[in-house]
Amino acid sequence: MWGICSRTAVGMAKACGFVRPHHFVKPVCGTRVSGRYRSHQQGLPTLPVPPLQQTCERYIAALEPITDVADLQHTKTLVEEFQKAGGIGERLQKGLEQRARRAENWLSDWWVQVAYLEYRMPVVVHSSPGLVLPRMTFSDQAGQIRFAAKLIAGVLDFKTMIDNETLPVEYMGGKPLCMSQYYEVLSSCRIPGLKTDSVVNHAKSSPPPRHITVVHNFQFFELDVYSGDGSPLTVDDLHVQLQRICRASPEPSAEPVGILTTMHRDAWGKAYLNLIKDPTNKDSVSTIQRSIFTLCLDGARPPGPEQTYRSNAATQMLHGGGSQQHSGNRWFDKTLQFIVGEDGSCGANYEHAPAEGPPIVALIDHVVEFTRTAEAKGSPAASLPEPRKLPFNITPDVQTDLEVAKRSMNTLAHDLDMKVVVFEHFGKNVPKTYKMSPDAFIQMALQLAYYRLLRRCCATYESASLRMFRRGRTDTIRSASSASAAFVRAFDDPVRQNSEKRELLENAVKAHRSYTNIAVSGQAIDRHLLGLKLQAAEEKLSVPAIFTDPAYAKALHYQLSTSQVPSKTDCVMCFGPVVPNGYGVCYNPMEDHVNFAVSSFNSCQETDAARLARGVQDALLDMKTLLEKTPKSRL
Ligand code: COA
Repeated sequence: MWGICSRTAVGMAKACGFVRPHHFVKPVCGTRVSGRYRSHQQGLPTLPVPPLQQTCERYIAALEPITDVADLQHTKTLVEEFQKAGGIGERLQKGLEQRARRAENWLSDWWVQVAYLEYRMPVVVHSSPGLVLPRMTFSDQAGQIRFAAKLIAGVLDFKTMIDNETLPVEYMGGKPLCMSQYYEVLSSCRIPGLKTDSVVNHAKSSPPPRHITVVHNFQFFELDVYSGDGSPLTVDDLHVQLQRICRASPEPSAEPVGILTTMHRDAWGKAYLNLIKDPTNKDSVSTIQRSIFTLCLDGARPPGPEQTYRSNAATQMLHGGGSQQHSGNRWFDKTLQFIVGEDGSCGANYEHAPAEGPPIVALIDHVVEFTRTAEAKGSPAASLPEPRKLPFNITPDVQTDLEVAKRSMNTLAHDLDMKVVVFEHFGKNVPKTYKMSPDAFIQMALQLAYYRLLRRCCATYESASLRMFRRGRTDTIRSASSASAAFVRAFDDPVRQNSEKRELLENAVKAHRSYTNIAVSGQAIDRHLLGLKLQAAEEKLSVPAIFTDPAYAKALHYQLSTSQVPSKTDCVMCFGPVVPNGYGVCYNPMEDHVNFAVSSFNSCQETDAARLARGVQDALLDMKTLLEKTPKSRL
């Protein structure tokens, strides 16, 4: 999903980890600080447009490890033509610079449109990430509901900070980050369209939503989570309400309306019109769309061995396991869905258009911490209104759409291969000891693992945050570099000395960290190239030759699509590959271990999630051994 653009389209002195305030649960400031968010945002710099020549040079360098000499020579000729004085590149660059002077962020609206809303594959697997939390201690419905009540209260606690504008500002490399994504994830929803989708955010509507949607046994309920005086319902109140919902939906519905949201977007766009033709359905759908978030109460999954728990939970969170399991117990267009299973499984799924993983994970960290400390007092309010079941009239057209959706979802669920592993030997601690960036170290292990499997390097995407800039989203760190290629080619070569291999490893890690610094400071190539291409379309010019060049398509065919999503909780995010013959790899580096979620498609003979997952663990261990037995190079 982070490589979605593949189908559409200043180094800083020190390494710059994300810094989140350490306290999660307390203090939630009860007093509103009006205007705080706005003044923070206005203080942030705007996203720069990198110099044209710099991007052209870096583009050629990025192609070197993944293209052959003849193709590269051809591309060099095209790039020279593109950037020559008075040429098309200069014209587009000027257009972009003008756009940057006018807009709050020259890229973000384009990006959301092209990467998400015009992207027509199902959001399930292809775009929306899942998140797997550690297994909780309950194993029956009573425990599930008790936990879910605390979870809702935890989200409302976090929401108070959003509403009051008291969310602590985050920093990266000492610089404050854009906080806007936090304001987009609650009370919002994607709406399917016939050719392009849209996102609506109801948080600012008057009055703002007071309800969440709960889905149990494929049936949706509107649950008001605020009392008459505007205060959030207590854990005990929520507990009572969830019990009522479960009692009102004891058996699975034969018509799992939610599964429609798993369809190809064009098909869902049409099915959506069929669905909302009926006014009752329209009202029910609108209630889901306006809700603060969705809570999915899943039944127990078929039991399996403990070793496969996390991998199975990852598919539950990512796509729900198909129509026979939980895929119909979702509304995948909803920006934020929390998922709690009867067997203690717990996690989330989020629709990607409004936000990246880190704000979602920060919210979830808060919620998990809240559930640990929240106490049920055992005295619910005397009279709460019964949660409202949302009715749906299933017309013959809708029935046909449901059958189509079930079939396509089941095919997709069968095709996705997901492996979650915990690399237990070390985490960030070891690379740090060797004065190396842990993220770069892990990325180089991925490069090595991929090379060992396929004897080649591939275009690799790693998300880099652009949140140092106002309304910044992401750019691409291209992990396959000339330095990484030299390292992986040498590593298993018995002729090479260990000292040379170590030097190549150090070079590769440094090159990666340096590209990271370039990317997070808005000087990477990918969004700039995309911007130049879109600017040509905006000016109604024909597509410049560098964008129809096969090398550009190759550069965007990310066979490794990767992302680091760090968290305080011992969880892992997961997502699908972005190309049919690719891997999706998400990882959470903790201090002494790393959680990996690796995905591939079963329909591709070349890829195998378990093999890559094993390969990356072997590569990490081999790289550590190399460092242990070889003195530091003189670099
Ligand atoms: N020596 C010793 N320590 C080092 C080091 C070195 N040479 N280089 C880095 N470190 C330390 C850092 O100070 C940091 O310390 P901390 O654990 O106390 O925070 C830690 O190692 C991690 O740094 P590093 O591994 O280099 O990564 P990072 O935290 O800077 O993250 C990115 C790199 C690319 C992941 C980050 O910049 C980013 O953009 N994240 C957002 C990605 C995103 O949006 N993902 C979701 C997409 S949906």
